[in-house]
Amino acid sequence: MKLSINMAMTLDGKVVRPDGKWYGLTSKEDKLQMDVYRSQSDALILGKNSIINDNPVVKIRAFPNALNPRPVILVRNGTIPGDKHVFEESDHIPLVICTKNNLKEIKTDLENRAEIFALDSGDIDPKKVTGILKRKGYKNVLLEGGPKLNYSFLDGDLVDRIYITLVPFVIGKNGLAGIADGASAMLGFDEREWALTNSVAKGNEIFLTYDRK
Ligand SMILES: NC(=O)c1ccc[n+]([C@@H]2O[C@H](COP(=O)([O-])OP(=O)(O)OC[C@H]3O[C@@H](n4cnc5c(N)ncnc54)[C@H](OP(=O)(O)O)[C@@H]3O)[C@@H](O)[C@H]2O)c1
Repeated sequence: MKLSINMAMTLDGKVVRPDGKWYGLTSKEDKLQMDVYRSQSDALILGKNSIINDNPVVKIRAFPNALNPRPVILVRNGTIPGDKHVFEESDHIPLVICTKNNLKEIKTDLENRAEIFALDSGDIDPKKVTGILKRKGYKNVLLEGGPKLNYSFLDGDLVDRIYITLVPFVIGKNGLAGIADGASAMLGFDEREWALTNSVAKGNEIFLTYDRK
């Protein structure tokens, strides 16, 4: 199974606005490119905060006949409201992966809206997530953030590819997340190299592809 991250980032390396959300900073071209990546994927992992803050529409709009990837949502604590777009606009019933601690809450809120898979622990080990997705037969999985989720998969060295769109803005505020946001530096980060395998400039944006060496 191949796992790819896709993120848009400002010229100063931020992936969230000062209000903690991400909207209005990408072009039509970036949205189209996002649909290209989605159409090449069979599952799409989304972070809890991204769903709550941004309520993204995960349906592919650019290619009417494309099969949408199946949304996979990781919820470690608490629950998420069942009225988010991700539960309404998909070809598939989303898969929600939770822990033994929040299973009851998740069931109450999402029983008829999602397939629920509870891990037998209080945390969500990203390696277990990739194991579940592999067993379910998914081949190309796209991780669309946010930065905390990206961090946990990158930290576990589970990511094969990173797509970055560089968008022409500078925010400048300190403390805003970059593509990976965790408490400590990843062990051996300077030995984990990435190869630039594609770069395309369109308008004022650059679309980059990095593959894990
Ligand atoms: N620029 C872009 O392309 C882009 C793309 C996506 C998102 N974003 C921005 O990123 C913001 C959200 O970022 P975020 O980092 O706070 O949220 P996130 O990555 O969307 O969600 C993080 C949350 O997911 C849950 N989670 C479950 N399993 C986890 C695991 N193994 N490791 C880490 N977290 C796990 C945790 O919540 P619980 O512990 O509470 O369950 C955690 O707080 C969004 O508001 C959006 O604006 C930007």
